[in-house]
Amino acid sequence: MAKEIAIAKDLSLAYDSRETILQNLTFSIYEGDLIFITGASGSGKSTLIKAFYGAVAPAKGSLSVGGVQMPSNSRSAIDRLRRKLGIVFQDYRLIEEWTIERNIALPLYIAGYDQKMIKDQVDRLLKHVDLTRRRDRLPRELSGGEQQRAAVARALSHNPMLLLADEPTGNLDDYSAQLVHDLFMKINQLGKTVAIVTHRMPTNIDASYRHFYIEKGRLFEIN
Ligand SMILES: Nc1ncnc2c1ncn2[C@@H]1O[C@H](COP(=O)(O)OP(=O)(O)OP(=O)(O)O)[C@@H](O)[C@H]1O
Ligand SMILES: [Mg+2]
Repeated sequence: MAKEIAIAKDLSLAYDSRETILQNLTFSIYEGDLIFITGASGSGKSTLIKAFYGAVAPAKGSLSVGGVQMPSNSRSAIDRLRRKLGIVFQDYRLIEEWTIERNIALPLYIAGYDQKMIKDQVDRLLKHVDLTRRRDRLPRELSGGEQQRAAVARALSHNPMLLLADEPTGNLDDYSAQLVHDLFMKINQLGKTVAIVTHRMPTNIDASYRHFYIEKGRLFEIN
């Protein structure tokens, strides 16, 4: 049996007591999974991703991610959890004053790795996302697709147990979107567990992918 990375049981999510956004979700995410999450605008996709990193607490039921039971009122448990996650957003969120190389190294600086180890890891990641020639540039000197690939490299740099992406191709044209999706699929083929919120499913996915579809506050698994 593959290891469980996240377990939701009868999980409901809400921002306040007036409205429940997602109700009674029960699912497990296993090591090596590639999961696409789709649903209409406002259906609760980002809310689910936020729950994974402890930014929205369960209103009912339970959610555990990487062995951390939510809601965790321990700041250090949430910090530990976030160090085990890689997160990619639609708007890249790179540090504008820093080179691409330094942006990618950020999680490694935070984790306190030594210079040599950081250099080796960043070299490897730059090659992986095909940005070696752009390493000394600032984010604004890159195309949107290139910036997003840098953000993916940064999210991977500390070898997270789960890579989360919320609409990572939302700002990109079809061609760049496909490159970013191809990158996520390649990362998954190397064994990484990946969950991606998207409006457009890539067409060239491995048959083993999972598809979570959110509608009217419920989650359906449809592949
Ligand atoms: N901070 C918040 N406080 C209160 N309600 C919120 C908050 N963030 C989102 N919501 C509400 O929760 C619902 C789900 O929002 P969410 O952002 O999860 O949708 P989504 O599926 O990610 O949509 P999109 O495809 O447009 O990104 C929406 O009705 C939204 O208005
Ligand atoms: Mg969203």
